Amino acid sequence: MPSNTGAPSLKQQLMGMLEPGQLMLWSLSRKFNSEQASYDYLGFATDYLRVCKEAVINGEIFAPIFQISKLRDVAFGRFWVEFSSNRPSELTGSSALIPPLLSTSTGIVLDIGPGAGSQMHLLRSKEITSIYGPEPCTTLHPTLRTTAINEGISEKYHILPSGVSAKDLLPALRKTGTGVTDAYEKDTKNGIFDTILCVRVLCSVPELEKTTKELYALLKPGGRLLVTEHVVNRPFDGNGKGSVIGRLTQFIWMWVGWKFLLGDCCLDRDTEGALRGAAGVEGWESFDIERSAEWSAMPYISGTLVKKSL
Ligand SMILES: C[S@@+](CC[C@H](N)C(=O)[O-])C[C@H]1O[C@@H](n2cnc3c(N)ncnc32)[C@H](O)[C@@H]1O
Repeated sequence: MPSNTGAPSLKQQLMGMLEPGQLMLWSLSRKFNSEQASYDYLGFATDYLRVCKEAVINGEIFAPIFQISKLRDVAFGRFWVEFSSNRPSELTGSSALIPPLLSTSTGIVLDIGPGAGSQMHLLRSKEITSIYGPEPCTTLHPTLRTTAINEGISEKYHILPSGVSAKDLLPALRKTGTGVTDAYEKDTKNGIFDTILCVRVLCSVPELEKTTKELYALLKPGGRLLVTEHVVNRPFDGNGKGSVIGRLTQFIWMWVGWKFLLGDCCLDRDTEGALRGAAGVEGWESFDIERSAEWSAMPYISGTLVKKSL
């Protein structure tokens, strides 16, 4: 991962351009298990082929043609569990941005797209009363459940089989029976969440602008949205830090299949612009975002946005 601070060396710059390719290769790769003298399949592509084969064996012979999206979801879930458990434990680059940010979470928390629960250990604070994790990839739910138990937060962590768009999320929240939507349903100005977490997820949600507006509406007045996301490289936005080569490599990685192999992730989203625009004319109380690795194919934004109080 690119480093966040200081001027990058030539080697770091090169690695910063190649990083998405490295992740794609990982997504396609397999590794040799010397103990069992066999191959352990780690890659999304091999998972995908295996999921297709399983569907056919189970009688769903047309599923690989007519249910591509469903099978891809299952394969992505399997890949992400493997990927998350094989991540290096040392926190470098963008990963180092997450702990200080998430440790400020309080109250009722929305943890969007928690994946395999890699951030759950940062959510053990007593200041947090409950957590709702909408994760549409249900293949990840058993791992999420186990992680919540291991971290001692299973009582307050509600895993939701839904995406984050309001039309899916609100019914899923109601279904928990916790009454978390009651005040919002009396008056939407009340909002629902004290803290919303967006960690490497706004790159994958459909309809980014609509989603960020809905998230703004779901925040309580004075509530905070904590964000760490990779974004589009912007070489011409006037701060002189973006990179034309970084932008070009983003374009190439997208073109050679990044989105398909990485669960609909997009490298070229203006997430900062969408978040800024989400508050409409009234604007945020504060919009405290830092950008890092702007010279790479995976520049990051990280920070805290606070909604105005009533
Ligand atoms: C790159 S992973 C990041 C997971 C986790 N936040 C992390 O940092 O390890 C993106 C996650 O977002 C989920 N996701 C994709 N679309 C979503 C949506 N519309 N609503 C909520 N989560 C979504 C994916 O299933 C996946 O688990």
